[in-house]
Amino acid sequence: MTELHEILYGSLLSPAQPPNIVGQIVSQARNRNEARGITGLLVFDGMRFCQHFEGRHHDVLALMTTLERDPRHMDVRILHRGPIERRRYTRFDLGLTQGEDGDDLAELLALDGQAAIDRFLALRPGFDVNG
Ligand SMILES: Cc1cc2nc3c(=O)[nH]c(=O)nc-3n(C[C@H](O)[C@H](O)[C@H](O)COP(=O)(O)O)c2cc1C
Repeated sequence: MTELHEILYGSLLSPAQPPNIVGQIVSQARNRNEARGITGLLVFDGMRFCQHFEGRHHDVLALMTTLERDPRHMDVRILHRGPIERRRYTRFDLGLTQGEDGDDLAELLALDGQAAIDRFLALRPGFDVNG
């Protein structure tokens, strides 16, 4: 049986990125993730990213290695990683959060481990998800 894993990490948008950078990242990621069976959610608040993704162990680790080298973001910090029994997502999406809730990701990125996962999942229904 294939072992499923999940990773939750946070990062910061690098300086001087073009305004459409998040759209570019997501359209590329959506195709690649679908091909590899990676599902999850990337959330962006205008400054910070937080991404929760899941898939086969090998694919999850390979994606994380690629992500850590991507110069479009920085200060990449893994908040939680580990095996899961079943997927929490059916596909890969982008979620946006901003305005009054602008501190959501800042607070989340200060957490670790299960507390970080629990907070992300609690915030998930409030993220404005683009199909
Ligand atoms: C915040 C952020 C999230 C990303 N999420 C994904 C993702 O979920 N899947 C993916 O394939 N690439 C994602 N990427 C892009 C990868 O870092 C990488 O550019 C892409 O996978 C192409 O890798 P390659 O140049 O080794 O082919 C993301 C990049 C950033 C900055």
